[in-house]
Amino acid sequence: MVKENILSVKNLVRTYGKGRAKTEAVKGISFEISKGEFVALSGPSGSGKSTTFHQISLLDNPTSGIISFCGQNIIKLNDEEKSNFRLKKIGYIFQQYELLPELTALENICLPLMVEKGYTNEVKQKAEKILNEMGLIERTDHYPGELSGGEQQRIAIARALVKEPEIILADEPTANLDSLSGKKIMEILKELNKKKDITIFVINHEREFEKYFNRIIRLKDGKIEKIDRKLRK
Ligand SMILES: Nc1ncnc2c1ncn2[C@@H]1O[C@H](COP(=O)(O)OP(=O)(O)O)[C@@H](O)[C@H]1O
Ligand SMILES: [Mg+2]
Repeated sequence: MVKENILSVKNLVRTYGKGRAKTEAVKGISFEISKGEFVALSGPSGSGKSTTFHQISLLDNPTSGIISFCGQNIIKLNDEEKSNFRLKKIGYIFQQYELLPELTALENICLPLMVEKGYTNEVKQKAEKILNEMGLIERTDHYPGELSGGEQQRIAIARALVKEPEIILADEPTANLDSLSGKKIMEILKELNKKKDITIFVINHEREFEKYFNRIIRLKDGKIEKIDRKLRK
């Protein structure tokens, strides 16, 4: 069966600054991701990984290039369409979790749905179900400051999942965690990919996690150096 592309990036360029301060962070990269894949973007620090993610998630505008999501060029959307797209289609997981400290675990997870639906029982039940799947139901009323890094990241994954996104993007989700907590996060992502068929694209530069991915897109100096493919197990 030929799998449909969920994401297609063509000749993506992002140049910051002008003149002597000019930095070509991403120099015309092209790649595709199929529905249901678990793919990593890797490469040394400064190779353009985060810049690429910021373009795909519409947090920034590319200098040139095309980013198609299910066949639609999302660069061409207007601002309102872009924020709608970000809110509904993408689950984003940050290296630093980015939970709101004044909200409980449950409230943090509900947040993406509250924009549209309010803090309803339906929203709360949905969030509780995911919290339970993350093994954190006993942390429902805890604030982020009362949780370990690994627990905070699991809350952040739950927050991304509650929207039922088309794709999960994670920028070095394990970089701030000890090896054991990092492994747990990777296992959770692998489960979501396998059991729920969620497409996951993650920035990773830890060798020990490379075994998890279907493919690894390796960046070097703003270009794709190579793409490693693992045989599906
Ligand atoms: N907002 C910015 N303004 C200017 N230069 C930037 C900006 N963001 C990133 N860069 C530069 O672009 C290059 C790629 O950065 P980045 O995408 O963050 O790399 P990585 O995530 O692979 O470490 C680096 O040289 C970095 O200094
Ligand atoms: Mg980065």
